[in-house]
Amino acid sequence: MRGVRSLVTLAVAASVGCAEWVAPRPGLTEQDEAMLAAMVSKGAPGDPSNEFLADDAVAELGQQLFFDRGLSNVATDGGFALATQGVPCVQCHAPTTGFSDPRTVRNVSLGLGWTGRNTPTLLNVAFYEWWGWDGRADTLWGQAVHAYEAAPTMGGDPLRLARALFDRYPDRYRALFNQSLPEELDPRHPNAARFERPRSPEAEAELRRIYERSLKAWGAYLSRLVSLDAPFDRFAQGDDHALSEGARRGLLLFIGKAGCVQCHRGPMFTDNQFHGVGVGQSGPNVPSVDTGRFTGLERLKANPFRRSVEVATPTEADVGRFRTKGLRNVALTGPFMHAGQLETLKDVVWFYNRGGDRAGAGPASVFLEPLGLGEREQGDLVLFLEALNGAPPAARWACDNSRPTFVGMKREFGAACAVIP
Ligand code: HEC
Ligand code: HEC
Repeated sequence: MRGVRSLVTLAVAASVGCAEWVAPRPGLTEQDEAMLAAMVSKGAPGDPSNEFLADDAVAELGQQLFFDRGLSNVATDGGFALATQGVPCVQCHAPTTGFSDPRTVRNVSLGLGWTGRNTPTLLNVAFYEWWGWDGRADTLWGQAVHAYEAAPTMGGDPLRLARALFDRYPDRYRALFNQSLPEELDPRHPNAARFERPRSPEAEAELRRIYERSLKAWGAYLSRLVSLDAPFDRFAQGDDHALSEGARRGLLLFIGKAGCVQCHRGPMFTDNQFHGVGVGQSGPNVPSVDTGRFTGLERLKANPFRRSVEVATPTEADVGRFRTKGLRNVALTGPFMHAGQLETLKDVVWFYNRGGDRAGAGPASVFLEPLGLGEREQGDLVLFLEALNGAPPAARWACDNSRPTFVGMKREFGAACAVIP
């Protein structure tokens, strides 16, 4: 383990380069300091494929679509009670729990059906290279297609979304994109059939344009859910008092003996790669098999809005691999792992301490071996993980600015804020 660790530290140190030399603090080596400096975020990488990314007004429309209950299909049987009123994105990604699901104690989420996977946080979601536990999207707004259309989440489709926009935000749409929504999207319009299947090529093109703009509005909104400046960052930037003694010892384990940094590295504590840590498919409503990256690649290939031209062909080695989860704000977003199999951070540390499990569908990662950490060391690692909670995103992005779907509707998913007509 130590051998691998020094390779990683050297590689990180080399990639950081040497600015002016400052003596490392007691207990830290020069390489440690270089690695810590590389873990302080310098901001999101941006997304050249989303031309609306910098536009706050489009992001506000994305926020309305995020909170709106009128976009989803409705439950036919058994879905969460609210589904009779429609499922909004925020039902699973609530501001109160770091934009993860407040209703999941264990294991997975309920929309129109059971999702089969644990709902991840949306804080800092713009900072990744892949989205979904299986990397099914290679842009943030491309992930919104899966989020909206998946049968167990919202069961949406382009026509449903366009009709909802026509019904609820036509003036806003015109103001932002300098173009009116076609009247035929009104189901009562005599030419409404133009948008039903089979569609004319012009109706198809128009629908795609409306859909793409909506997905990008979601993307622009989600990129504003930024939460940095955790105690860890202040420590990494030289404030020795930012971490408690225990959290500081935990940090040294994280980048040292426990080897976490082999995978959880960089500003988001992820290598943006896929690994099998072997966590089993256990718990209520968890499917017995989840092939992870294998199906993720197939889904990426099927995504009409993907950026990659070439998509690798999935192989046996992809089975059971999942994306290394970013760890910022992790203490807010339990349960943990792709199907919420582990309830607390203590459970997670205990899982790694025993060398992971061999129960997942694929070959276990070569890195995992028992760590031999004592009780106190395990507790210190948890204290360190808790020091990764950042400042919450600006309040204007955490409130419900959607149009109510009916008069007197209660705002259950965060404070109401001004509805822009
Ligand atoms: C029923 C619950 C549910 C609803 C509703 C829902 N999501 Fe999710 N969301 C999930 C789950 C579960 C995942 C993990 C999917 C996977 O990897 O298989 C996820 C993943 C994501 C991700 C990727 C996060 C990451 O770390 O890669 C984004 C972005 C996202 N959702 C945005 C949205 C948006 C936008 C909407 C509304 C259009 C939405 N979600 C609606 C449950 C939900
Ligand atoms: C071999 C790479 C690797 C190593 C080493 C590793 N992790 Fe992970 N970690 C992952 C992957 C991959 C996931 C997602 C696994 C899944 O859900 O199947 C994950 C998930 C997690 C989660 C759950 C996050 C969430 O939001 O659900 C935590 C917490 C975590 N790791 C902490 C640690 C700690 C602490 C260590 C060191 C003791 C460590 N990891 C070592 C790859 C790694």
